[in-house]
Amino acid sequence: MNILIIGVGYVGLATGISLAIKGYNVRFYDKNKEKITLLKNGKLPFFEPKLQKTLIESLNDKRVIFFDNFKEAIANAEVVFICVGTPIFKNGDTNSKDIEKVAMEIKKNKQGKTVIVIRSTVNPKVYNSIKSILSDKDFHLAVNPEFLREGKALDDTLNPSRIVVGTDDKLAKETLKKLYSSFDAPKIFTDPISAILIKYASNSFLAVKISFINEIANLSDKLGGNIDDIAKGLGLDPRIGKDFLKAGIGFGGSCLPKDAKNIVKYAKETGINLDIIDAASKLNDKQYKVVIRKLKQYLGSLNGKKIAVFGLSFKGGTDDLRNSVSFRIISDLRRAGAILKLHDYLAWIKAKELVKVTLVSNDPYLVAEDTDAIVIATDWNEYLNEDWKKIKSLMKGNLIIDGRNILDGGLLKKIGFTYEGIGRK
Ligand code: UDX
Repeated sequence: MNILIIGVGYVGLATGISLAIKGYNVRFYDKNKEKITLLKNGKLPFFEPKLQKTLIESLNDKRVIFFDNFKEAIANAEVVFICVGTPIFKNGDTNSKDIEKVAMEIKKNKQGKTVIVIRSTVNPKVYNSIKSILSDKDFHLAVNPEFLREGKALDDTLNPSRIVVGTDDKLAKETLKKLYSSFDAPKIFTDPISAILIKYASNSFLAVKISFINEIANLSDKLGGNIDDIAKGLGLDPRIGKDFLKAGIGFGGSCLPKDAKNIVKYAKETGINLDIIDAASKLNDKQYKVVIRKLKQYLGSLNGKKIAVFGLSFKGGTDDLRNSVSFRIISDLRRAGAILKLHDYLAWIKAKELVKVTLVSNDPYLVAEDTDAIVIATDWNEYLNEDWKKIKSLMKGNLIIDGRNILDGGLLKKIGFTYEGIGRK
């Protein structure tokens, strides 16, 4: 089976390389020539170590080929996966320009029976638009949402919690059944709308879970409780589950914030209010402010205060800055007149191009030097292993606001820090 993957982001590469590992010949196309050149040379355009290793192996085994010419790439494809980004506008609507353009390119360049798989996250409006562009009887359409987490892109694709396929087309269904036959995962074959809603409901539920625990953390802060114990007590109920109950400054990334906002906006157009998901988004948009409040509580005015922000990526283990909560904190602190120094283990290089501040570095000691306070904004586990005694000796002040509740507050207090987590005693 000849497979073409359109779009070489996390989703496209993880999908294509997983299929190559399973023995398929996989072609990749992207309009971004720089990315294609990098990939031809065995380099991923982002940080994902396992995927990087398998990319090189797949290139050596000649199981994958990269193209920047659409016509050549699609020539003999039997299955085409659309994996391009579907960003949203500020009002929550999908910016479907790219995905619709891809559909038009397919229509223009492809003849003969082809199964077209929409792997990108699309709401029913965008799905219908793609469907009407690819209405020719030779195109057999299916929706096949992905559920991968950054940092675990390959594992999540090779060993998914479930495989969901939504289609009304017989050939598309049979082809995807065959394609995924060697994947050991529960498989759900359903209609396109249900598949689309499984994806939106999954990400929205995760968003709700995080905002829920953050709301309880805010109450715990007020009342003097300990959110770690509360989350543990809550999560041990098997009906609730312990995952995604880590309180903090809120969720970021390229999926949860976008999908929650997009489905609320789309549902509203159909006359349905998704109040719970909307509330989760709204709470998330302001949750980071807890850090600013806590800084002011100890430092008074932030004007002229030197503040280090530790963590710039949207979560630990990635260099992805998209929708990172750190940047909300940074812009509020700037507005308040603070002097900023920023740290990240990986994302510091990308961040350096985006923000002009006193210092952006991957050296936490250099960043901590002479500061009044440190804000932990990303859950990099590596922060646990830093020499906090040394950091304390380098700082002017002694305040740590741990926006991700990852450090050991008791230990830091012993060293002489004033420590504040989110909802932590
Ligand atoms: C998410 C979904 O997990 C994945 O299934 C989907 O396909 C894409 O979106 P990802 O964006 O990689 O994956 O990040 P995830 O690990 O889910 O974390 C999202 C955000 O939530 C991060 O900012 C993280 O710090 C935050 N988070 C996560 C919390 O604040 N608390 C938690 O308990 C879990």
